[in-house]
Amino acid sequence: MNNTFAKDIINGLTTSNKELSSKYFYDDSGSRIFQEIMQMPEYYLTDSEFEILSLQVQQIVAALEFEQPFNIIELGAGDGFKTFKLLEYLVTNEVAFNYVPIDISQEAITILTQKLKSRLPELSIAPKVGDYFEILRETSENKTPSLLLFLGGNIGNYSHSEAIDLLKLFYQNMNANDKLLIGMDLKKNPITIHNAYYDKAGVTKRFNLNLLIRINREFDADFKIDDFDFYCHYNPINGEVKSYIVSLKTQTVHIGKLGLDIDFQQNELIWTELSQKYALSDIEVLAKTTNFNIKHHFLDCKHYFTDSLWEKLH
Ligand code: AVI
Repeated sequence: MNNTFAKDIINGLTTSNKELSSKYFYDDSGSRIFQEIMQMPEYYLTDSEFEILSLQVQQIVAALEFEQPFNIIELGAGDGFKTFKLLEYLVTNEVAFNYVPIDISQEAITILTQKLKSRLPELSIAPKVGDYFEILRETSENKTPSLLLFLGGNIGNYSHSEAIDLLKLFYQNMNANDKLLIGMDLKKNPITIHNAYYDKAGVTKRFNLNLLIRINREFDADFKIDDFDFYCHYNPINGEVKSYIVSLKTQTVHIGKLGLDIDFQQNELIWTELSQKYALSDIEVLAKTTNFNIKHHFLDCKHYFTDSLWEKLH
């Protein structure tokens, strides 16, 4: 049994405002549903970032100002292939670098590695499965310059204070000339954002409800999935998309392995996810607060998304 997960379930479901963290969405089946989300036309984040990494790769590489060889360390690489264009450009131009994709899902890393080995056989790749920070700490001991990639808008899934803590940890584990390329989703027409999370086919709903299926399996619980629904809301004032699981009736759920009975009122919510959207000025403030300088914001043509290149302030 996963102890941190167990504690988070106990704390999250026994308070008056119930919550379960979206970091638990990504079991192997959740990771597969996330791949489906990234292919949905409404989920513009993936296409926007793909466009940036395809069309501006030359400018991004030039802005690194690295001596060769260097490392590209990707945090939360998934099997999404989002970095392919960058890797392809570097391999084609015979740049000496080593790619280190890191993810908690073994399945995702295996798929990614197989795909990359067949499409870019000359790529030097050293995949790692596990916790970002332990691996980051090990790699920062080696003095080869590194580009840290934290793409896909993943930072948006952390609360403001968690995001600051995470960026400070990146800072501590980076050497003076290392760079961070961080993907952040920008504030835009609220309807566009709403539609990306409230998709008509219900894939995002399945992504959320998979968390209950996971708890049933791992903790011997009896969530009846059809008695729960999904709701999400975008607040254009503060840039927060918040996602929830909704109990459709008054019910009690038994979680066998935790010896817990959880009561739900009809329409009671479990908050599952924050997906923060940023103005460029919000990003500048976040960088300054965590002692970084922003070298450049690489935006897609619609200005929906940025991959911003950060360097440490000395
Ligand atoms: C991984 N993360 C950036 C996604 C997001 O947009 O917040 C997860 C996701 N949740 C619902 N759809 C996608």
